[in-house]
Amino acid sequence: MNIKNVVVIGSGTMGSGIAAHLCNANIPVTLLDLKTEISEKARERIHKSRPPLLIDKSKINNIKVGNISDDFDVVKNADWIVEAVVERIDIKHQIYEKIFKSRKAGAIVSSNTSSIPIKVLSQNLTDTEKKDFCITHFFNPVRYMGLLEIVKNENNDLNKINQLKEFCETELGKGAIVCNDTPGFLGNRVGVYAMQIAMTEAFKMKLSVEEADAIFGRPMGIPKTGVFGLYDLIGIDLMADVLKSFIKELPETDEFHEVAKEIPLVKKLIETGYTGRKGKGGFYRMNKSGTTKVMEAINLETGDYSPSKKIDIKSDKVDLNGLINRKDKYGEYAWSVISKIIKYASSLVPGITNQFNDIDEAMRLGFNWAKGPFEMLEEIGVQNFFNKVDDFSGNNFLEELNKNKNEDFYGERQKYTNIETLGKVKKTAISLDGNDSAKIYRFQDYNIVEFTTKANALDYDSMDALKKATDKPLIIINESMQFSAGVNLTYTMQFADKNDFKSIEKFIKYFQETCKHLKYSKYLVISAPSGLTLGGGFEVMVQSNFVAWRM
Ligand code: NAI
Repeated sequence: MNIKNVVVIGSGTMGSGIAAHLCNANIPVTLLDLKTEISEKARERIHKSRPPLLIDKSKINNIKVGNISDDFDVVKNADWIVEAVVERIDIKHQIYEKIFKSRKAGAIVSSNTSSIPIKVLSQNLTDTEKKDFCITHFFNPVRYMGLLEIVKNENNDLNKINQLKEFCETELGKGAIVCNDTPGFLGNRVGVYAMQIAMTEAFKMKLSVEEADAIFGRPMGIPKTGVFGLYDLIGIDLMADVLKSFIKELPETDEFHEVAKEIPLVKKLIETGYTGRKGKGGFYRMNKSGTTKVMEAINLETGDYSPSKKIDIKSDKVDLNGLINRKDKYGEYAWSVISKIIKYASSLVPGITNQFNDIDEAMRLGFNWAKGPFEMLEEIGVQNFFNKVDDFSGNNFLEELNKNKNEDFYGERQKYTNIETLGKVKKTAISLDGNDSAKIYRFQDYNIVEFTTKANALDYDSMDALKKATDKPLIIINESMQFSAGVNLTYTMQFADKNDFKSIEKFIKYFQETCKHLKYSKYLVISAPSGLTLGGGFEVMVQSNFVAWRM
């Protein structure tokens, strides 16, 4: 199967995101919408998008726009037709009828639906049509979210599904997971449950929104928006719709029902237009007083706003054991949230997938978590987990694990995507002599350096590790929130405070020498940055022969 020409129907948030990303991969794409909506607006939206959906503005020339009344003929030449119209089954059914009348034989047709089961979407299709129909569930923003869930139906040509998966991985840079047809697939089923647990436990334990976000955030390897910040970002009203759809689809015995109950404060926020960042505000709001802007947070008990407080939990690193064993309300909250997420995710195996690593991968690629629930369990340690956990009866995965207490239950990663990650490679790499600021691994015939300081700020030891590791082809990589925030200024300030300017000069010299060393290394140097790559971090990166990053 050769995908050389794509038509995307529906030019809203997702349709324009998908079209823009196809442009990034130099695949010609036509974007269709209603005549009244005209997709020209979508081109403008793509152009002005923040963060930018295009890797280069000139890529917009790969998009043609049109409407479904006058330009539907373009479907005849498409190898892949993606439906991304509103989440209404009647509209989607009408569109499929039109598409299948026009598409060329064998062209793939997929839906971007987030909540309609494939058996419902495809109910009017013939068996031959079903062969080429699937769900391709992209995440928003399409360019930046690594996850793509592909849901197949029982009639699919599996060969074709695998080819589509390969195309999306190699050409679009996605981690594509083929999932069962279960509500919310993998990412949203676990991710939305996790958000709900983080929210409802904060209410129960009387934590403030800032406290909950300070725990259910960086210290757990979760983006710093936390739970309430993420709610505001997604839209509190949209989340309420998502919950309703889960409640409708999931059996009453599913734990999801427990955490999806309506919360009076949330209801009130929606009713009064406090739907999050797109509305008047949400759990946080920006309040203007005179010329100054003040970030405020809501009191979960009273609903009143007051200036947001910065919470310092005195821990910079992801250290799950440190976090869950704290003898304070933060430790209690962290354990309650993490253990419930692990319990819920494991209860879904094998129902939603028989490869639990799929769930971890979905959380990493779709929600930007550093580790998924099973990797968290692995980090906490099987014995430690069972020493602490309460009832898990009926959870086959945990019952089995409790019997065999296999600390190495994760074993070799169940690799299914062709994207290698540092997490996967570390499992089989040999740990070499690193230091406090960087780790060095040997994997096959190359070295890997991973910075390990706060914000991966660079100091003498970081440079030392880089220098040492140039005796082989070298990959400098990090999968944390930042590749490197630059040179550690506190480190240099400490010398300055003691008037020890000689040491600063010595460090700068060593830094420059190491950069030169990377540049003129007789072996290949590759950097694979993620997140922030500032100042000194950038200087290190630009010495590499190649820089690899996700599109
Ligand atoms: P949206 O509301 O931004 O865009 C929908 C577009 O469909 C609009 O431009 C509308 O004019 C167009 N449309 C409606 N009827 C049409 C018709 N008969 N023919 C052609 N175009 C028509 O919606 P959004 O958010 O882009 O969602 C699209 C799909 O993607 C939905 O199925 C949704 O469940 C799914 N999805 C949404 C995500 C999100 O974060 N917004 C994430 C993942 C999936």
